[in-house]
Amino acid sequence: MPAAVKVLVPATVANLGPGFDALGVAVKMYLEIEVEPRKSSIDIMVEGEGAESIPIDDSNLVIRSMNAFFDHVGRRPAGYAVRVKNPIPLGSGLGSSAAAVVGGLFAARSLSNRSVHQSEMVDLATRIEGHPDNVIPALVGGLVVCYRGGVSNETRFFRMEASERLVPILAVPSEGFSTAEARGVLPTEVSFADAQFTASRAALLVAAMTTGAGSDVLAQAMDDKLHEPHRLRLQPETAAVHRELRAAGLAVALAGAGPSLLVVVPRPEAVTRAEQIRRVCRARSAGWRVFVSEWEPEGAKTIG
Ligand code: HSE
Repeated sequence: MPAAVKVLVPATVANLGPGFDALGVAVKMYLEIEVEPRKSSIDIMVEGEGAESIPIDDSNLVIRSMNAFFDHVGRRPAGYAVRVKNPIPLGSGLGSSAAAVVGGLFAARSLSNRSVHQSEMVDLATRIEGHPDNVIPALVGGLVVCYRGGVSNETRFFRMEASERLVPILAVPSEGFSTAEARGVLPTEVSFADAQFTASRAALLVAAMTTGAGSDVLAQAMDDKLHEPHRLRLQPETAAVHRELRAAGLAVALAGAGPSLLVVVPRPEAVTRAEQIRRVCRARSAGWRVFVSEWEPEGAKTIG
């Protein structure tokens, strides 16, 4: 067993507007997990976002995911110590739980030195976390389309590079929002017209994101009629910022189930657009944070 392992796992943004439960992208903001073998007992220390609320017992998502991996390969170690540094805001739509799950699985795989195929990692992570559009880009990086298919209807994905001509900007309000609640508000049926509209936008978005289209195409491409209108009604402050940024011609989408927003801008405009977004957010309330990020091409990695 190696002396210690360190893994980095990126934050992710699911849906990107019209790609509900299908599209996800990894961004450069990393959960860091260090694990050291111990003779007995499991200890965990958490620093950063959520440090005061994240459980530090067996119910911790990193520990649960590590143990799920050890059980999958048939051997739990006697003990281990985990140190987590988390910069990803919790309950904000930036894939903090997906990062914890993927990080736990990755750390356990490195620690146990077992080769487990990527498709098994996808399967394990999806079973624990539930949202392939977050866990898959956290695992493999890039822009990912997730779908179910094949004889056993397993989760599959197709991975692409998001264009370097584009820059992701994340706007994060101070209060989180529950994904379960944001799913609970979704309708059981949608109109044919809304389905057609959203299918055309999802197709356009993949083309725009991979080729680096201009703002006008991107803004059209990130429009959604399946889930955002329902969710934004529950998140009035996010809705107001979303409305204002869209009216200014920006490509903006709810990050996952919200309440954060993803804005995608052409690279030369990144600095001025970030200032504009900060002004719009702060006019609503002082607690908003705006991060200018980059696409993460690799996904989870072991370092050191
Ligand atoms: N596709 C999921 C949802 C992502 O929108 O509910 C959750 O992060």
